[in-house]
Amino acid sequence: MSLLNALVTGSSIAPQGQDYDMIRFICMSSKPILARKSNTPKLEPKEFCRACGKFATGVTIATVTGQDGTPHGMTANSFASVSLTPPMVLICVDHRTKILNDFLRSEHFAINVLSEDQEHLSRHFARSGHDRFDGVKWYAGETGAPLLPGVLASVECALVKAVVAGDHSILIGEVLHAAYRDGRPLVYFGSGYQRLAAHLPGSSNSSTIG
Ligand SMILES: Cc1cc2nc3c(=O)[nH]c(=O)nc-3n(C[C@H](O)[C@H](O)[C@H](O)COP(=O)(O)O)c2cc1C
Repeated sequence: MSLLNALVTGSSIAPQGQDYDMIRFICMSSKPILARKSNTPKLEPKEFCRACGKFATGVTIATVTGQDGTPHGMTANSFASVSLTPPMVLICVDHRTKILNDFLRSEHFAINVLSEDQEHLSRHFARSGHDRFDGVKWYAGETGAPLLPGVLASVECALVKAVVAGDHSILIGEVLHAAYRDGRPLVYFGSGYQRLAAHLPGSSNSSTIG
């Protein structure tokens, strides 16, 4: 059963313009976690983005199989690990992203961590209005989720929870399979692609877990 089915409910909240209005947001507390005080100065979006841009991240392609069986993917640097036991990760997806519904309707998704020579894939999977898998090599992982060859790491997950947070949804997945290899990551910092300094070695091992 997909998470979407599992969360079918009479009461619903739906982000503007989105059609997954059956998703239920389960509030853990009667009070909002971050209640804005009325006298809090408004943070300009550009300033917020600039501040967040000071946080260096890797770059991933989050992938999923659509209801029609075709692969879909999007560039995402919001990837983070969440829990060790059980192993869980998250990504945050903008509500305007067309494949959000595919993530919500599928039992599994995958995270492909890009290596420093895969900047072209990051740009390709962030561009709208084309079939992103047209001409791109991929293979089905253990869960059936699409995986990209040559990545530094891949993580296959079962979607366990989707939480609406502002204009994004946080997708939380339990990790079922993980693999990684030696190499150097693609880095995103200050709104641009970066590489690790040349003298820093990539880790020198590889493994398949799960
Ligand atoms: C380096 C980079 C990181 C990104 N990270 C995210 C992310 O974490 N979440 C997100 O929703 N969009 C992210 N995006 C933007 C999406 O990739 C892009 O908006 C999306 O693929 C557009 O999909 P659409 O054509 O379905 O609207 C990122 C883009 C880039 C270039």
